[in-house]
Amino acid sequence: MTAAPEAKYTEETVLWVKHHTPKLMTFAITRPEAYRFAAGQFSRLGFHDGEGFIWRAYSVVSAEYADTLEYFAVLIENGSMSAKLAVLKEGDKILLDKTATGFLLPERFPDGKDLILLCTGSGIAPFLSILEQPEIWQRFEHIRLAHSVSYADELIFSDRIAALAEHPLIDEHFHKLHFVPVVTREAADGALGKRLPELLRNGELSDAMKLTFTPEDTRFMVCGNPAMVKDTFQALMDMGFAMHRNRVPGQIMMENGF
Ligand SMILES: Cc1cc2nc3c(=O)[nH]c(=O)nc-3n(C[C@H](O)[C@H](O)[C@H](O)COP(=O)(O)OP(=O)(O)OC[C@H]3O[C@@H](n4cnc5c(N)ncnc54)[C@H](O)[C@@H]3O)c2cc1C
Ligand SMILES: NC(=O)c1ccc[n+]([C@@H]2O[C@H](COP(=O)([O-])OP(=O)(O)OC[C@H]3O[C@@H](n4cnc5c(N)ncnc54)[C@H](OP(=O)(O)O)[C@@H]3O)[C@@H](O)[C@H]2O)c1
Repeated sequence: MTAAPEAKYTEETVLWVKHHTPKLMTFAITRPEAYRFAAGQFSRLGFHDGEGFIWRAYSVVSAEYADTLEYFAVLIENGSMSAKLAVLKEGDKILLDKTATGFLLPERFPDGKDLILLCTGSGIAPFLSILEQPEIWQRFEHIRLAHSVSYADELIFSDRIAALAEHPLIDEHFHKLHFVPVVTREAADGALGKRLPELLRNGELSDAMKLTFTPEDTRFMVCGNPAMVKDTFQALMDMGFAMHRNRVPGQIMMENGF
């Protein structure tokens, strides 16, 4: 008789759930002591589903040193996992794969002075975690975050980003950050109004970020809608930037957020 293989997941408890709009929610779960991740990585979360399981990837929003694990989910109409998350409540059980994965890790850039984080929708999640790591603030001279959403009420993290100014590990570096909201389907005060690749090509993003982008100094991280990731990569290549690979250093690192 063979012993049952050790489970690849742990069962965690939902600590809180917040619904920000009908399709945007954040929630936190217990973090097992042995659970390790690097800011920028994603967890696999699951539920028992009939005779089997359902598993999906969710980027960790929390800092590496946090006691709990927080996530940001965009609920998809008719999505199987979204249907389960939509009714999630405090005290519920959720499954957590023991291994976090992902290569959207700013420490993979060996050099560069300016870190530019470009995202759409739920693609902001890994950047929220990265922004809570003090190393990144010490390492880069300027940090810029652009978050593109369709409607202004989907910009739910503005206060959280502003609150980094009071973060004990980050406050002295906070002046390095500039947040550029982008709203694509309605006019919104203080936000740019076109998609990210167009804003890169026409110079509006560089103007709004008050930086000149150069291959020597600028490093881009891109996360979100796969079509945006592809179009943004193309725009950056046309501007003279290249994909970063560990053996062939470049300026662009990216991940499809779904
Ligand atoms: C590396 C990685 C990290 C991810 N991180 C997150 C995260 O932090 N937060 C999050 O909400 N989702 C994230 N996702 C997507 C998530 O894994 C699920 O796909 C999503 O929650 C939908 O699952 P579903 O079963 O409800 O719908 P599915 O049937 O799996 O998806 C239906 C369709 O919805 C679209 N879609 C899926 N996810 C999104 C999304 N986030 N925003 C807009 N459209 C989407 C896609 O077109 C997809 O084909 C991530 C995916 C990957 C691969
Ligand atoms: N947002 C909606 O109106 C809406 C309504 C019903 C259902 N849904 C569904 O809900 C899910 C989540 O929607 P979401 O709005 O959070 O995510 P999303 O569709 O990824 O949109 C987020 C942001 O990404 C932009 N974007 C999309 N494709 C791009 C590209 N190729 N290049 C650059 N930017 C691009 C969008 O611009 P645009 O606004 O110009 O597309 C928007 O600013 C999706 O499955 C979507 O189909 C969305």
